[in-house]
Amino acid sequence: MVLSLNDKFVKKYVTNEEVNAISNEVYTAQSALFNRNGLGNDFLGWINLPFDYDKEEFERIKKAAKRIQNQCDIFVVIGIGGSYLGARAAIEFIKSPLYNNIKGKKTPDIYFTGNSISPSALSDLLKICEGKDICVNVVSKSGTTTEPAVAFRVFRELLEKKYGKEGAKERIFATTDKEKGTLKKFSDDNGYETFVVPDDVGGRFSVLTAVGLLPIAVTGIDLDKIMQGAQDAIRAFNTQDINENDCLKYVAIRNILYRKGKNIEILASYEPASQMLCEWWKQLFGESEGKDGKGIYPSSVIFSTDLHSLGQYIQDGERIMFETVLDIKKASDELIIPFDPFNVDKLNFLAGKDLDYVNHTAMLGTLFAHSDGNVPNIVLEIADRSEYSFGYLVYFFELACAISGYVLGVNPFNQPGVESYKKNMFALLGKEGYEDLANKLKNRMN
Ligand code: PA5
Repeated sequence: MVLSLNDKFVKKYVTNEEVNAISNEVYTAQSALFNRNGLGNDFLGWINLPFDYDKEEFERIKKAAKRIQNQCDIFVVIGIGGSYLGARAAIEFIKSPLYNNIKGKKTPDIYFTGNSISPSALSDLLKICEGKDICVNVVSKSGTTTEPAVAFRVFRELLEKKYGKEGAKERIFATTDKEKGTLKKFSDDNGYETFVVPDDVGGRFSVLTAVGLLPIAVTGIDLDKIMQGAQDAIRAFNTQDINENDCLKYVAIRNILYRKGKNIEILASYEPASQMLCEWWKQLFGESEGKDGKGIYPSSVIFSTDLHSLGQYIQDGERIMFETVLDIKKASDELIIPFDPFNVDKLNFLAGKDLDYVNHTAMLGTLFAHSDGNVPNIVLEIADRSEYSFGYLVYFFELACAISGYVLGVNPFNQPGVESYKKNMFALLGKEGYEDLANKLKNRMN
């Protein structure tokens, strides 16, 4: 089994009867999604994407990745939200959060930028790039998002100065809308190779398109295995039996808990390489469900690290949350704890044991403790950190998120709330067309 839901630590809060009672709502939501007659149904391109992806482009992505590997020391990926989180999650989960420092690796370092407006973050990266060969992948479906657009302007200038206009065009790759957007036209006019974010795939559901796949391929990760994992997840989770389908069960349990006042879901992992996966998951669920005054607030922790910070609150604070624990069954590395003849630290009872055994024991101890502290815990057991498992897990969460959004009664595929800050920022920065709003905001400041 690649992924399975263990409900042992949630049974006290959610009974089988309750799961069966909500099952019709979950089936209705699942049918609306698969029959494409629910809210936001023009954004369902991700559902069959692991089978229906553009095969010609997929091969072009692999070729471009090889060229990038041969051409540069540093690969800069410019994008925000769904235009970078999935790629970064994949690289850290499958390879390592320390991928850039892996000794003897033959693939370029990778840096993600254009995901904030911090001058320090951008300046630091520019310093790192000094004297290095660089390639850039600008990723923006709309092509107009301010954060990546500003970073792209800066990197374009750098590349054109360093390599000339002709040289730069061999090093800039754009992933954007197929034909309409500003970035597409600009890229075509400048001769950059372009890749497509399909019209019917929203940013946070786009990791298995060129958005995620090009950066992932540059690090040497096997794309075919990721797609294989996602394909098998489609097969595994398209059935309509809540007791056999763990994706539906996850949807049911989290919605039952929400209705019982558990407004916060904490994704907990005992593997630091999952940190960006958690960030990706937070965006997926937060942007999809948090609207119309509704939605579970998605949060995350890495244990045992955060047991020494947020652990106190989870154990003992307000009882408003539940945890979804990602249990990675097989660690990517073995590390045996050494024997110390002096046993000064009194740790010889652990000597000869694999550190992963200790990590899993910490997990079990915490599950019992949090259960005693009245925190429901859903456990998602995933085989390992392979490409295959990553693809499988991504599809599991995307499907769960979409069905869950429908159970909640929201459109999981729009993000109207994201526009509010943008409009205010443009008005305050003096962008043309925003004069009235600028005046209103200025009056509010007085
Ligand atoms: O999920 C989404 O749609 C968003 O998070 C977008 O990915 C994000 O806002 C970036 O948009 P764009 O790719 O148009 O620059």
